[in-house]
Amino acid sequence: MTHVPWWRHAVCYQIYVRSFADSDGDGIGDLAGITDRLPYLAELGVDALWLTPFYRSPQADHGYDVADYRDVDPLFGSLDTFDAMLARAHELGLKMIVDIVPNHSSDQHEWFQAALAAAPGSPERDRYVFRAGRGPDGGKPPNNWQSVFGGPAWTQVDDGQWFLHLFDAGQPDFNWENPAVGDEFESILRFWLDRGVDGFRIDVAHGLAKAPGLPDVEYETLRGADDLSPTGLSAEALAARPYWDQPAVHEVYQRWHRVLRSYEGDRMAIAEAWVPTAEAIARYVRPDELQQAFNFLWLQADWSAAQFRTVLVDTFAAVEPVDASPTWVLANHDVIRAATRYGGGPAGVSRARAAALAMLALPGSAYVYQGDELGLSQVDVAESDRQDPTWRRGGGVGRDGCRIPIPWAGDEPPFGFGPAGSVPWLPQPASVWENLSVASQDDDPDSTLTLYRSALQQRRSLLPHLGDRVTLVDRGDADVFAFARAAATPDQPALVCVVNCGVAAVPVDDLGEPILTSGPGAVSDGELAPDAAGWFRAG
Ligand code: NOJ
Repeated sequence: MTHVPWWRHAVCYQIYVRSFADSDGDGIGDLAGITDRLPYLAELGVDALWLTPFYRSPQADHGYDVADYRDVDPLFGSLDTFDAMLARAHELGLKMIVDIVPNHSSDQHEWFQAALAAAPGSPERDRYVFRAGRGPDGGKPPNNWQSVFGGPAWTQVDDGQWFLHLFDAGQPDFNWENPAVGDEFESILRFWLDRGVDGFRIDVAHGLAKAPGLPDVEYETLRGADDLSPTGLSAEALAARPYWDQPAVHEVYQRWHRVLRSYEGDRMAIAEAWVPTAEAIARYVRPDELQQAFNFLWLQADWSAAQFRTVLVDTFAAVEPVDASPTWVLANHDVIRAATRYGGGPAGVSRARAAALAMLALPGSAYVYQGDELGLSQVDVAESDRQDPTWRRGGGVGRDGCRIPIPWAGDEPPFGFGPAGSVPWLPQPASVWENLSVASQDDDPDSTLTLYRSALQQRRSLLPHLGDRVTLVDRGDADVFAFARAAATPDQPALVCVVNCGVAAVPVDDLGEPILTSGPGAVSDGELAPDAAGWFRAG
């Protein structure tokens, strides 16, 4: 039998560490908090966990500004608490992947501090992107690049040079043309692989290489108004950026492939690459590069059967030619939660549940963002409470609303996120979340938590019988998104998933009794209700 690596069909749960569980009452989630909650995740039925950055960091971008890649920030614990957490996860059968941030460090990183202390043109400065400014006195930035978080992508230092930061000024970009940077990251990967991690999520994987000469960008003609990507850009605009998806990034990932392959246990890496086309994504998952790339198509789609069909077709078009497995993502810590994106209120939650069933019926691996299994919606965070640098830099309302600490139990904040009396780093919406905590959903057969548990359990038991081939099914109604997943062998039952994105119930009686539906009353009298989904056995 051919060997199937664990990640190929894994359901991976994303832990936004600050907001998952706070063991010491400082209001910020930590690694010991995660360890305490691992049994919950094992019981939920996921296969793997992805942890957002917990390294030493001044937290200018909540950990995506790393000051020491080989240590745990005291806010979150220590290397010992990390080891204990990883060991416990492995005991429970959970794989663990960690975030790696290679595009930029923190301005507090010792290399950047050394760069500031050294002269222009020095080897210390060459590990970052320092340039002279424009204008007679060099008082203008070296080019017109804008930070993803708003404002110029350059900040001037005391001696007049400017340094590049595609994100916050506390996140200077590395110069990947300098071989010392590549060597350092290989050593960092090995540090965590030696500790036993199962893989990496690569932050801004498409950003490491910049076009030679750092040419200006034609921003005005290219900005897309209504794109949901964190970069806020249309596909055309993304394609025209001299700092995204440059050919040289692929040499980095070929090297990382060789590093991962030198370890036992199917270690893997998944790219966060916001690139415009299926072909561009496919380049990151060629056989000698990364194992996976996030597929953000679904996360950018509306509640629309036509758009869901396009997502499906485009996704397979991207991965099949390079024999990679697809990934599916409905939400993460950078975007508006699915229930809100799909219209909010009870309908938004029903739709998010239905979309989750569709995602979990598909081959490949699914990434579930913490709190989606509770049906959480985006929270409107008061301006005085907002902490995201996107907000501070004028790049929009910020991403705090999808990062609210998780409600575990109880009828008032902190809802078991931390010890009683502790104050979570972002306020939880008291009245709404009381009924959404893990404890309140635990024994409720109709809760979103119960739905996720059932879907994950069913997925596990069905998986051995299912193949990877998927075909769209035409149910004779443009508002119905339906697909069939082939059986592993012709004599085994296959799976059909039907999602009703329309406003009227649709007949499904020809498909027999559903194996699972997205909510109470989703299927009655042989009809699938609007905003609902069902799994059926075909054949
Ligand atoms: C993508 C991460 O998901 C996001 O949270 C972060 O702000 C940027 N990369 C910069 O590291």
